[in-house]
Amino acid sequence: MAKIVSAGLLGFSEAAAHIHSGKLVAFGTETVYGLGGNAVDGEAVARIFRAKGRPSFNPLISHVPQADIAFGLGKPTPLAQMLAAAFWPGPMTLVLEQRENCPISSLATSGLDSIALRVPGSELARAFLQEVSLPVAAPSANRSGRISPTRADHVQDELGAEADIAMILDMGPCVEGLESTVIDARGQKPVILRPGSVTAEMIRDLTGVQLEKAGHDIVSPGQLASHYAPRTPVALNQSTPKENDAWIGFGDAPQGKAHAVFSFSEKGDLIEAAASLYDTLRQADAAGAKRIAIAPIPAEGIGTAINDRLSRAAAGSLALSD
Ligand code: TXA
Ligand code: MG
Repeated sequence: MAKIVSAGLLGFSEAAAHIHSGKLVAFGTETVYGLGGNAVDGEAVARIFRAKGRPSFNPLISHVPQADIAFGLGKPTPLAQMLAAAFWPGPMTLVLEQRENCPISSLATSGLDSIALRVPGSELARAFLQEVSLPVAAPSANRSGRISPTRADHVQDELGAEADIAMILDMGPCVEGLESTVIDARGQKPVILRPGSVTAEMIRDLTGVQLEKAGHDIVSPGQLASHYAPRTPVALNQSTPKENDAWIGFGDAPQGKAHAVFSFSEKGDLIEAAASLYDTLRQADAAGAKRIAIAPIPAEGIGTAINDRLSRAAAGSLALSD
């Protein structure tokens, strides 16, 4: 079991010492918990891939406490500066061209010329990054392909047995609950590589640019078809539960019987649904049902990102959908 330490000054200095010695520390952000390691140290980055069991080396996001530090690693474009001024600190990751002297390990960037950078909105996460004062590479702290963790005990369940994880910094439940929006900001027009709670509408309102959908050749390498997957098969867009279902609703209570009943948001609120998404999926997965049946979620605003994650959670179970 990994040691869980409450976020606070003592915890931060211990955590920073672990990162400096090449060990891994799981920490909370406003989106999901990350599994952090020194982004400049290739061996530490390799330990991240090993602990998660990532089948291939997807590039990782480097986390820093301030925008000017991010722009010391990746070249800012006018577009990137505009996005950073509006949405950093916050749930947004920018893909930029690396600066020539960029010290980030090529394993963290998968040998690409680009780099993904994020300044988290969570104050505790930034205080931790400030204490480390090195860029921290961090994917979500789950086993590859599984549900992302939004609480310290989720990380313990997923990865607590991994020897390279020195500690878990408990920062409480994640308030956003969905991974950051990944935006390629290298050109003049923003391209959303992964939807998140900084929505297409918000980006369009800021930039005045009507967004194009990312083509197949430029989606984030980590956007695998099956991801965020519970062990129980998942059926989406269901109108009523069956007897053996763990039902996850949105808004109104279901008609008819189910093995167990959950809800992303009883009042039908998309922000609340995003924040509870992974926790509710975990609970439904643990209910011992034959299937997880999920009500339709409106595809507007942050609903786009929720449906993106749900379709990946269901991707391995299409045969069971009806
Ligand atoms: O909210 C988040 O972003 C969380 C927290 C911990 O910060 N992190 C996270 O990391 O979700 P991860 O590794 O699960 O997802 C990173 C995404 C992947 O889809 C990856 O392919 C993409 O970012 N990515 C990283 N570097 C990239 C690059 N240079 N070009 C395009 N996509 C990149
Ligand atoms: Mg992930």
